[in-house]
Amino acid sequence: METIKEGDFILIRFKDKRYLKKVEKDKNFSYKGGVLRYKDLIGKPFGIIIGDLQIFKPTLEEIILYGIKRETQIIYPKDSFFIAKKLNLSEGKKILEFGTGSGATTMVFSSCVGATGKVYTFEKEERIFKTARKNLEKFGFLYNVVMFNEEFGPLEVSKIEFDAAFVDVREPYPFVEKIHKVLKPSAPVGFLLPTANQVVELLKSLKPYFGDIEVLEILTRYYKVNPERFRPEDTMVAHTAYLLFAKKLSI
Ligand SMILES: C[S@@+](CC[C@H](N)C(=O)[O-])C[C@H]1O[C@@H](n2cnc3c(N)ncnc32)[C@H](O)[C@@H]1O
Repeated sequence: METIKEGDFILIRFKDKRYLKKVEKDKNFSYKGGVLRYKDLIGKPFGIIIGDLQIFKPTLEEIILYGIKRETQIIYPKDSFFIAKKLNLSEGKKILEFGTGSGATTMVFSSCVGATGKVYTFEKEERIFKTARKNLEKFGFLYNVVMFNEEFGPLEVSKIEFDAAFVDVREPYPFVEKIHKVLKPSAPVGFLLPTANQVVELLKSLKPYFGDIEVLEILTRYYKVNPERFRPEDTMVAHTAYLLFAKKLSI
């Protein structure tokens, strides 16, 4: 059975809050109900209750929501998990990403394409690039990610035939033609756009390169889990972003 070791990340659930922490034997986690000594966890299995706390092994969703340093707006798992499968990502695929940002979406792609696939990701800002690199390294996602601190690929990237591409930058329009050149025939591309104006502009730019175009957004409503009073949470995030998907036309 896998047990908790020094250096592991854990997800602590206390009432309705979640914390992602690293187990360091000389350190403690202080909360309103008391103090948890990390050394008391070492050798115990994940998924245990200690006083008011529940201790779990963090999932990818929790690493993104509670673990990474956010240098930019990130794409939340409710969107990025959908994006990854909409782009048909699986073991062995090669994906091209523009706008690494904090690396949150890069992690999702990395987890999908596995050891035989690769994520090629571009970030133009050096400070942001460095943070993304640290985030990916910290949680073990750097092994299949090739990072570039620039706007568009050097020659080695333009020779690759990609299975999919994804763009999360403010001005995605110039990428349309460039991405078209390096995608396999019929391969999917996805864009995340915060405003409807950008969607309209992008729709115009996609012709004649991409077809089978879809625009959507994902609304997620959580529920209170009290079985005596089961009902939706009072508040929800109404809008995160528009997602646009299309497929390469062989023109
Ligand atoms: C919203 S963030 C991306 C967030 C990322 N998807 C995540 O989930 O962590 C957009 C990023 O695109 C970068 N960017 C903007 N224009 C770019 C370009 N032309 N080439 C590469 N990166 C660009 C910005 O510096 C910024 O870090």
